[in-house]
Amino acid sequence: MTENIIEVNHLTRKYGDFTAVNDISFEVKKGQIFAFLGPNGAGKSTTIKMLTTLLNPTQGNIQLNNVNPLNEPNLARKSFGIVFQDPSLDDELTAYENMDFHGALYHVPVDLRKKRIEELLKFLELWDRKNSLVKTFSGGMKRRLEIARGLLHHPKILFLDEPTIGLDPQTRNHIWSYIQNLNKKENITVFFTTHYMQEAELVADSVAIIDHGKIVAKGTSQELKEQTKTQNLEDAFLALTGKTIREEEVTGKDYMRMAHKLWRK
Ligand SMILES: Nc1ncnc2c1ncn2[C@@H]1O[C@H](COP(=O)(O)OP(=O)(O)OP(=O)(O)O)[C@@H](O)[C@H]1O
Ligand SMILES: [Mg+2]
Repeated sequence: MTENIIEVNHLTRKYGDFTAVNDISFEVKKGQIFAFLGPNGAGKSTTIKMLTTLLNPTQGNIQLNNVNPLNEPNLARKSFGIVFQDPSLDDELTAYENMDFHGALYHVPVDLRKKRIEELLKFLELWDRKNSLVKTFSGGMKRRLEIARGLLHHPKILFLDEPTIGLDPQTRNHIWSYIQNLNKKENITVFFTTHYMQEAELVADSVAIIDHGKIVAKGTSQELKEQTKTQNLEDAFLALTGKTIREEEVTGKDYMRMAHKLWRK
């Protein structure tokens, strides 16, 4: 039996009177690629924030790599890397500087840091651009850099909140092949959210579907398809939640970015 690297029991988060995450339980096995799927506002990011010590649960328990992040947040933080739904790179720094800064934050010793930065930037095919300012990068390059940065301190778990959102299909495929290679090469457990169901079906070993803060199904894609008598995960999702997962949507932030681009012209 492979051990569970993530265990979540009866986790709940309220914002005032509103329950965003409602008594959810699930586990992720070491070395798995795990997809956490749900429509807009289902509670995915809230769950990731609780797992990664950014938000306190209202109730419930979490174990990450045998550590309770509520009791030992600093120790827990060493065991995971995270790529947020909203970009969090410093545009005015180079790719290398973004990596180096992060390494300093995580107290990665200088020699080790240098080696690891080179290894990761090469792996994600950004080494040639290491001295370019991030603001000159394409969306796909920024995402790759965020993933590289999340891996700098050799985490055992990588959390990816919508890693491929807003990217073209070819770039999305590239990102997934890097992630799958990493998963194999370093045996990193990957916990990701996406609203691209085909991607989830292709890459995930295991899936949980959350809707209105409740887990409505979990298992392999195959199990969910059998359970709902459907042909693909997209249809299984529809059968389980009664709705299609949101299509490409423009968030307020994307809208502002587009508007800024237009104004500059
Ligand atoms: N800080 C907050 N205060 C109040 N309500 C919040 C807060 N953060 C999130 N919510 C609400 O909690 C619910 C879950 O939000 P969350 O961001 O976890 O959803 P999500 O599944 O990540 O959605 P998306 O697919 O849009 O990223 C939503 O209804 C959201 O409006
Ligand atoms: Mg979210």
